[in-house]
Amino acid sequence: MPAVPENEFFGKLPSAMVDFAPELGLVLGSGLASILDLMEVVETVSYQEIDGLPGTGVPGHAGRFVLARLGATRLVIAEGRAHLYEGYAPVAVTAGIRCLHASGIKRLVLTNAAGTVNSEFQPGRWMMLSDQLNLTGSSPLLGGAHFFDMSEIYSEAWRATFRNRAKSLGIELYEGIYVGVLGPQYETPAEVRMFCRLGGDAVGMSTVLEAIQARVLGIEVSGFSCLTNWGAGLGEGSLDHGEVMKAGVEAAGDLVDLLGEVLPGA
Ligand code: HPA
Repeated sequence: MPAVPENEFFGKLPSAMVDFAPELGLVLGSGLASILDLMEVVETVSYQEIDGLPGTGVPGHAGRFVLARLGATRLVIAEGRAHLYEGYAPVAVTAGIRCLHASGIKRLVLTNAAGTVNSEFQPGRWMMLSDQLNLTGSSPLLGGAHFFDMSEIYSEAWRATFRNRAKSLGIELYEGIYVGVLGPQYETPAEVRMFCRLGGDAVGMSTVLEAIQARVLGIEVSGFSCLTNWGAGLGEGSLDHGEVMKAGVEAAGDLVDLLGEVLPGA
């Protein structure tokens, strides 16, 4: 797939990122920073050091790239991301992905926190993304690249590897469709019922634009949702960001184990 000039990153990357020559990118969602404990951190680069990269104003999102090793694999981890709901344009939301591409990565793991809208998918577990419904009403490609094929947005081959390793590790890993919405409010029960009828399994406010951007740049993508809560109306009580963060921290261990098994051989 050819890279599209309009969607390339033309800024200057810090030499630490270029020199490290990372093979794989990992975007961490809310509350998932404990994944870093598994890695050998080499260096960090604040988003503020890179022109054209928005910072992040969301609690639980640090706003830096972490250069790290996991076994023999060199990774760049985006700790924190920009969201449409913060008021950023789609092209700003995906600037971090273009930076990762410019640093040389060929593969990308996107993670997020999401509410489950599938009554069989229990909160506290992970869902690997098989596909997505982009209901944000937007795209990072507006005004630029046109008509890209999105029929395999999340790599089937990579998914098979993760599925098999999860099985051998005894980790229950759901697979399903992520519904990306604008936010910033959580959904109404009627919206959650609609997402379920549309074929969605989990809902969140990130990831879909990043996956589109990465595919256009020819990066192989996989995605994981930490199911932090029942979607509105499916569980008891109301939704709270603090609870969502806490659930992310508690569930991080399973994904750490899985990534630790798969990524060193990626
Ligand atoms: N809805 C949208 N985004 C989310 C949710 C949710 O229920 N949980 C975590 N992120």
